[in-house]
Amino acid sequence: MSAQPQYSEERAKQGTKQRARQSAEPPGPKPLPLLGSLPELRRNPMEFYARLARDYGGFSRFYYGRKPTFLAASPESIKELLVDKREIYVKNTRYAAIRRAIGNGLLNSEGETWKKQRRCTQNILNRKAIRDQVAEAAEVIAPELERWQSAAKSGTAIDIEPDLTRMVQLLIGQWVLGSQYARYGGQVTELVAAVRQAWPEPPRSIWASLKPPPLLRLRKLESLLEKLDEVVYAAIRGQRESGSVDFSLLSGLARAGVEEGQGFSDAELRDQLLTAYHAGFETSASNLTFLFYELYHHPEIRQRLHREVDDVLGSRLPESGDITKLEYARCCLSETLRLYPPAYNFTRVALEENTLSGYAVPKGSMVIVSPYATHRIEELFPDPLTFDPERFRPEAVEGRSQFAYIPFGAGHRFCVGQGLAEVQTKVIASMICQRFELDCVSDRPLETQAGTVMRPRGGMPMLVRARHPASAPISSSAASAAAPDTESA
Ligand code: HEM
Repeated sequence: MSAQPQYSEERAKQGTKQRARQSAEPPGPKPLPLLGSLPELRRNPMEFYARLARDYGGFSRFYYGRKPTFLAASPESIKELLVDKREIYVKNTRYAAIRRAIGNGLLNSEGETWKKQRRCTQNILNRKAIRDQVAEAAEVIAPELERWQSAAKSGTAIDIEPDLTRMVQLLIGQWVLGSQYARYGGQVTELVAAVRQAWPEPPRSIWASLKPPPLLRLRKLESLLEKLDEVVYAAIRGQRESGSVDFSLLSGLARAGVEEGQGFSDAELRDQLLTAYHAGFETSASNLTFLFYELYHHPEIRQRLHREVDDVLGSRLPESGDITKLEYARCCLSETLRLYPPAYNFTRVALEENTLSGYAVPKGSMVIVSPYATHRIEELFPDPLTFDPERFRPEAVEGRSQFAYIPFGAGHRFCVGQGLAEVQTKVIASMICQRFELDCVSDRPLETQAGTVMRPRGGMPMLVRARHPASAPISSSAASAAAPDTESA
């Protein structure tokens, strides 16, 4: 018998359907005149994208004003966008304010420049280099938690979000600046935080988006950015003069390619350092903040995590060998990233007309990926609104599409800082669990806020209770280890 595919009426129908799809629009909400879906999008982008995925399936369109815009929500359409058609899609880097702040760093760059930056940063961020920083990171976090002991004693509630942000900033600062951290770290951290404060928040309504940002605020932002540049360039000069070799991004990038005459210029270094600073701290701080919110609402999960931390760390500070042993902590942090992905959306722009999920996508269109929406698809994560760390046991992950869980993105532009973030959040979370139990001060429903990352609206005020009497010190002495540290990084 011939192996030729046979003509069938069914096949002909499918062909006609395919052609019809290419000329039709994907399903989506009915647009308002001129405004499209902007009012709903402005109110809460995360919920808007989640609704699109729920009501219109894996690939949908909505109108951004009058411009058709697409949401790739299913793992299949995300893979097609970020992997199969990666040559046709570029990052959306039209925001002048972001360009001014981080220049042509790894987040924004394309082509050969991106390749060089990515290769060098990935080399510096290798697994061993990250693990080697654990003990040092723990030493940085310990004094920060001393302040929580006083809050625990006095029974005062604290907003944990700014404190967690500061802790992550300290760790990122140390990794970015290395030997220059002692001299410039404080100023850079303060200025980056001030820049983020002065940064215009995305408007929540159409009327708000029609108002230009106040001139005074823009001037303040520009003056902060200028001061930040001065300090960062001083740190770069300091590194060049000292030539010191350490684990940091600054030291690694300053040395990269120098022998082949392809070293980075000062301006390129500045862009890379500020990119890492900006990309690295709010995301992890958001992850930790939502973690403690969920732990409070799931006392049995909290208890289990406390038990793991007690078993692995006892009363000493974390060391590199502990990281892989904190397995339940990994599951809890991953599940938090599923429900509350800090980067709740990211976008691509089509360089030419093409198709996605069989639908025509015109040149210049914006395609959105929303980890928030994809992570809440019932078929991918049953009972999606329930916090359940068991979803991240190796057996549960097996067989799930790698494009179903995308808090760090996917394809060649996935997050270069993923390994660093995972280790830093584990260090901070485990040190807090070792010492404290955190309780929400009110039972008001959680409201999420879309800023540069997703955050809880109104912060996260919590009561801090010490788990052990203050007389039981946490020490860095390996002698007090509960579990022997045999694993090498
Ligand atoms: C929980 C923490 C973090 C989350 C959720 C997160 C999320 C993401 C996502 C979703 C992307 C992909 C964006 C896209 O494809 O358009 C990304 C890219 C990136 N992230 Fe992260 N990130 C985190 C921590 C970090 C840290 C600690 C650093 C600092 C080293 C960092 C640096 C970057 C950079 C430089 C890119 C661009 C990579 C490229 O385009 O080649 N991130 N991140």
